[in-house]
Amino acid sequence: MTKTETSRTVATGAGAHIDARVEEALTRMTLEEKAALTVGRDAWTTVPIERLGIPSIWLSDGPTGLRKALGGADMSVGRNMPATCFPTESALGASWDVDLVRAVAGAIATEAQADGVQVVLGPGVNLKRSPLCGRNFEYFAEDPVLSGELAAAFVAGLQERGVGASVKHLTANESETDRMITDSIVDERVLRELYLRPFEIAIAKAHPWTLMAAYNRLNGIYCAENAHLLRDIVEGEWGYRGIVMSDWFAVNDRAAGIAAGLHLQMPYAPTAASVAAAVREGELAQERLDDIVRALLSFVLKADAARRPDTPVDLDAHHRLARRAAGESAVLLKNEGGLLPLEGEALVEVALLGAFAREPRYQGAGSSQVVPARPVETLHDELVILAGSAGRVTYATGYGEDGAVDTALLREARAVAGEASVAVVVVGLPGSYEEEGTDRAHIDLPPGHTRLVEAVLEVQPRTVVVLVNGSAVALPWAARTPAIVEGWLGGQAGGGAIADVLLGRVNPSGKLAETFPGRLEDAPAYLNFPDDGTGRVPFAEGLFTGYRWYDARRIEPLFPFGHGLSYTTFAYGALTVEQSAAPGPDDGERTVTVSFMVRNTGTRAGREVAQLYVRERQPRLQRPDKELKRFAKVALEPGEETEVRFTLDERDFAVYDPRAGAWVITSLVFDILAGASSRDIRTRESVTLAGVPVQRVPLGRLSPLRDWLAHPATRDRLRPMIGALQRQFFGAEAEPPIDGGGSGDVAQSFVADMPIAKLVMFGALSEEDLARLIALSSAS
Ligand code: BGC
Repeated sequence: MTKTETSRTVATGAGAHIDARVEEALTRMTLEEKAALTVGRDAWTTVPIERLGIPSIWLSDGPTGLRKALGGADMSVGRNMPATCFPTESALGASWDVDLVRAVAGAIATEAQADGVQVVLGPGVNLKRSPLCGRNFEYFAEDPVLSGELAAAFVAGLQERGVGASVKHLTANESETDRMITDSIVDERVLRELYLRPFEIAIAKAHPWTLMAAYNRLNGIYCAENAHLLRDIVEGEWGYRGIVMSDWFAVNDRAAGIAAGLHLQMPYAPTAASVAAAVREGELAQERLDDIVRALLSFVLKADAARRPDTPVDLDAHHRLARRAAGESAVLLKNEGGLLPLEGEALVEVALLGAFAREPRYQGAGSSQVVPARPVETLHDELVILAGSAGRVTYATGYGEDGAVDTALLREARAVAGEASVAVVVVGLPGSYEEEGTDRAHIDLPPGHTRLVEAVLEVQPRTVVVLVNGSAVALPWAARTPAIVEGWLGGQAGGGAIADVLLGRVNPSGKLAETFPGRLEDAPAYLNFPDDGTGRVPFAEGLFTGYRWYDARRIEPLFPFGHGLSYTTFAYGALTVEQSAAPGPDDGERTVTVSFMVRNTGTRAGREVAQLYVRERQPRLQRPDKELKRFAKVALEPGEETEVRFTLDERDFAVYDPRAGAWVITSLVFDILAGASSRDIRTRESVTLAGVPVQRVPLGRLSPLRDWLAHPATRDRLRPMIGALQRQFFGAEAEPPIDGGGSGDVAQSFVADMPIAKLVMFGALSEEDLARLIALSSAS
């Protein structure tokens, strides 16, 4: 990295000053000091160099709230300074609300500033490749665009308050089993279009100060030492100039990591000596270490300059924000007969069933675990408060410890439910069912929870189920249940937020950011999760993760990606598509503007998440049926309508072709689909891209003659040679294939399938001519 490039990482204004300090420090630092700076001082801080005035900075988890340890060396989970516990990322993902996510991150940053933390370790942008990943609660979505956009908002929310983000875990860390050693086997195209995409979006839009390299290997090489990942793609192609730190204990070979582009090893390990030795022995270039140290110094000084220790924190306001966030994230999965919201008659006697109503599970277990700054709200207490004199709430526990079946508790719950005007059953996943470090074995609820729902359904037709879980679960009783609310792990104010939704104080507007399968066997990656038994994790479903899988396999999910109801209804108007005027040579890309109206056709104010998908009509490379490209959350009063407008650019139509090493558009006709979920498309239009070059698959020695004949630059030159070969083997009158198209003639198809190299073998083409043809094909 050059000095000029580094300067782009520092804040403007303070930038020049910091640059000068960096260069001065670099000239005065010993090799040992440089090596020491590339490894953490303890669990959470960087190494200071006091004689040169280089401070130490503090890093803390993220992303559910601030988890500042009580001491720099203390890594224990659950012994932290109190902080606002927000809904987990899987909940926030379901809000589809970039402004909300930005506000939540802003509040976390405020607390970080007040507590002396310079970097918050989040957001997590791994995709929900399988519902079994034990850490799905800490990730936004199964879709890369939704993940990337929300991540960019999270990063912006932190960094606009002077606190750095760390987008994690780079990359293909989509399972927890043996996470420190597994080898994720992922095709380059799949990597670019799915698993790297959220990082790319977050970097392009929000310039995170840091990224976190994952534990696992990627195609054989540990991410923390992977030069293709860190140097070629992140630094080279994306031009990222921030810091890459390791996940905690992810490093295996420190010197190799520096060569590959890993700036900081966390936490402390006695590895600095190996870095210094590698430089002394000529195994690691001094310039490379200097580049890494230069970036680190710049980062540390920038972070230090952004400290605002006197930042006032309003924990009550943050609690209210946490409640709003949980309410915006709740997803109304089902609401037959308008059972919800509970009003009038329905509210007279509410049977509230399930221990989660009184002992809430509100966050995930592991490194993101926050010590809540305010008493955790319970659905029971908040419902009692909100119902006031309009209704009575009777409660029964319903199930035993860890969700075990308890027949006495079941009997009691059934009796309470039968006498009430409505039953609200709170079920989900106990903490032991989903936690960092362990994958789930199945997606079922605990037996006691399932039995409770079934028992209540037998005696109470007006049953509402509230779900408390960090990731998709199977709901075999869903068809018999009139109303289901997905409440997620809602943070310290999640109980109140669900009460708001049940009573209609909040009109639900969340949409699933992950598909709920009917059964685990229907889910993508089912046969390849968590690994194949040899430590390899084959991402064998390729491009077909999440809804892309269900679309391709024509599988009806229980609830599709993007689904979520409201207490009002929305209508979509006709979609119009407009292409920008043909760009001049320097005008940049051609864009496609899409617009349509959304109207609130019901009687309550509400918010709708309009989703825009793109489908390539006749893809030349295998491609999912549709891909999410844009979304917008709009607030509408009853009867109100608004225009939703998106601008698509060339990348939105392109695929990554690993043979070309580039994003390419391979055909011109696309369907633009807009709607309320991935399976509820309300309006569509097709577009034929104009003025956009169609990138042909680059041709080479092994490309079949059919492709050479389809290429306008090579077609005519090749026809005589192919004709000669045809006549040699199939008789004087044999005709060469025309434009490579299938003619039904076996001889023609046979020849059309041949790699062009065969022409060389049979003397019909010289090596020089082949080289000329390859050059010709790639030039046009
Ligand atoms: C997790 C990271 C976390 C780090 C520090 C690791 O085990 O994977 O997400 O930021 O610990 O707590």
